[in-house]
Order: sequence, then structure tokens, then C-alpha cells
Amino acid sequence: MDVIRVKDYKELSEQAAKFVLERVKKNPKMILGLATGGTPEGMYEQLVTDHRTAGTSYKQVTTFNLDEYAGLPRKDRNSYYSYMREQLFDHIDIPNDQVHLPNGEAEDWQEECLQYEQAIAEAGQVDVQVLGIGGNGHIGFNEPGTSFDSTTHIVTLDESTRKANARYFSNLDEVPTHALTMGIQTIMRAKEIVLLASGESKADAMARLLQGEADESFPASALLSHPNVTVIADEEALKKVTIKEAFA
Ligand code: F6R
Repeated sequence: MDVIRVKDYKELSEQAAKFVLERVKKNPKMILGLATGGTPEGMYEQLVTDHRTAGTSYKQVTTFNLDEYAGLPRKDRNSYYSYMREQLFDHIDIPNDQVHLPNGEAEDWQEECLQYEQAIAEAGQVDVQVLGIGGNGHIGFNEPGTSFDSTTHIVTLDESTRKANARYFSNLDEVPTHALTMGIQTIMRAKEIVLLASGESKADAMARLLQGEADESFPASALLSHPNVTVIADEEALKKVTIKEAFA
């Protein structure tokens, strides 16, 4: 696991965008796994700016998002579908039929999970998966205790996750209780993974991750056995990590 330590959120966003852009340029037909949440917003802004100014094209790129709220209509402003349109897809040249998110409106969520998993497998291996991390160590919506063997599945969101995400809704009651998410095994099948972490609220999670012990009570620790993971984190997120751990 490589750790790139950056000063602040601005630098994190620039480094993350650079990481993705290098790979899109090298492999214009790449399969890109994407995350939502506050952390990658700055990266998406950089990618949009690059597309406008330098013209990097996404015409042949295929994307798969990690997760989506269950039961929230796609057109709801808080759906991850709306988030992705607003943050990225509406501003670049990626064709609509090449972007994928689990369908939270599906009548049969189990069936939707199976189909999503199959769609990823049919597209081939994800080349680069972008991840954020929850304060409790979740990746995607794989909450503590999720099996490392899990594939795309329906989850009950932790109260801590619902509270953390309540900032986007009018009140906590509006935050969905369930979500559809790629499983840990699904994420681990990506050829390369880049995990982004910014701010003090991630400091405990980063300290635990870089301690280096894999345990299902801390989902992100599955990444320790992946051969190609880069962590890009800012000083605040790394403030509880000793130099020895970060650069071991
Ligand atoms: C989002 C996702 C989540 C977030 C995590 C961190 O698609 O999969 O795991 O990455 O909850 O969220 P932020 O970036 O808002 O702190």
C-alpha cells in the first residue's frame, strides 16, 4: 500500500485527479470505478476543468459506481445518480449507456444486486477503483462486520453513516436506511485501487488502516491484501498515523 501524503484538501483533489487522468490517457477504454460523498467532489471538479480546458475525452470510458441508496428515486437530488450527473457526467463527454450505478428504484433489490455484479463481470475487470473511507472504516457501504467475500448486496446503513450523510438531507429521518453496494470482494477484484481521505474525521480510521491488521470489523483493512493500492491522504487525516506506519 503506497501512501501519498498531501497538505490539504485542495492538494488531495489535484493529486487524485492527476492519478485518474494519467490512467485515462494511457487507457482511453478504461473501466473506472467511482465513489460519491464529500471527499471526491474536488477531484471531480478538477476532472471537469481538465475536460473543458485540455479536452481529455471519456467517450470510450465505462464507469461503475460503488453504491446507491435503496428506495430513493434517481431524480431525487440526494440519489448518487443525481450526484454523479451533477458532479461529473453532465460536464464530460461520456455516453449515458457507459455509466452504471446500482438502481435503487429496482423492485427486487436482490435481483438488482445480482445483475449489477454480472454487469461488472461482463465489462471485464475494473481498471481503477476510486474509494473514500467512512469514519468507521466502511468502503462503499460495506459496514463493519461485512464479509470480505461479499459481492454486490443490500445493506442496512449504520446509524453513524446515516448521521454522517444527514448533512445532505433536511433531517436524519429522510436519510435512507438501506443501500445497494458493491461488496468487498467486488472492490478487491479491481486491478488498482486509490483511496482518498481528508480531514480529522478520518484520522482514527486512517490510523487503524495503516496499523496493518486485516479484520472484518474494519472493512477497509481488506485492502491490505490487495497488490496495488494507493492512499492519498491529507495531513489532518494522517495526524494519528506515526511516520513508521505510514511509510513502512
Ligand atoms: C460513497 C461511498 C462511501 C464514502 C464514505 C466517505 O460512494 O462509497 O464509502 O466514500 O462514506 O464519505 P465522505 O467522502 O462524504 O466522507
